[in-house]
Amino acid sequence: MGAACPRLRPQAQAICCRALSKGARTVNDALITFRDEHRKLAAVLQTLRDRVEQLCAGGGPPDFGGLRDMLYYLDAFPARRHHPMEEQLLFMPLRARGGDADAAIAELEREHACVAAAMGSLEQALLRYEAGGEREFVAFATAMQGFCDFYLRHMHKEETLALPLAEELFGEGDWARMDAACAEARELPGGADEEREFEQLFRRIVGGEAPAPAALPPSARS
Ligand SMILES: [Fe+2]
Ligand SMILES: [Fe+2]
Repeated sequence: MGAACPRLRPQAQAICCRALSKGARTVNDALITFRDEHRKLAAVLQTLRDRVEQLCAGGGPPDFGGLRDMLYYLDAFPARRHHPMEEQLLFMPLRARGGDADAAIAELEREHACVAAAMGSLEQALLRYEAGGEREFVAFATAMQGFCDFYLRHMHKEETLALPLAEELFGEGDWARMDAACAEARELPGGADEEREFEQLFRRIVGGEAPAPAALPPSARS
């Protein structure tokens, strides 16, 4: 294994490498991965909403283990895989071009930081609900709804702004550099195990496959 490309953090390199190693190396492989990850995140968000609505309707005792699984996925998967990949492989090269895209991409970057803060509040709300019982439910449900709305809007902005911009502006050189960086990082340890663990957790949460590639739910567009 040769020297890693210094422009990419090792984690992003490994993720990109796995995305591109799955099939033919076309300029769209990484973008397909972004969209697939968005569908999975949207599916978990919808499952979380459904569970909380069931609780609201008096549908049995809360499954705190299941709720913790969902919050863990929504926290760890973006923080360790999806966001580093976007920031290093999508946002950075788009911002390097300057112009109108720069402000919009900077906003998406800021939203990544907001996601982390909002997730912290949601996790705290779940802890309070678990320890405090029904009197803490409304605060948890409110935090959950706010987080879901925010993150769905964030992904929708990426799908309607950042990804089309990449498709429009990235050239052969951009994709070739990404490909080369991924090739260097192909054998990083631990990446495949983490990917498999996230996939197992996702399937446990949603009870099967991600929804068909029909894009994000309508609520993401409001
Ligand atoms: Fe993002
Ligand atoms: Fe994203």
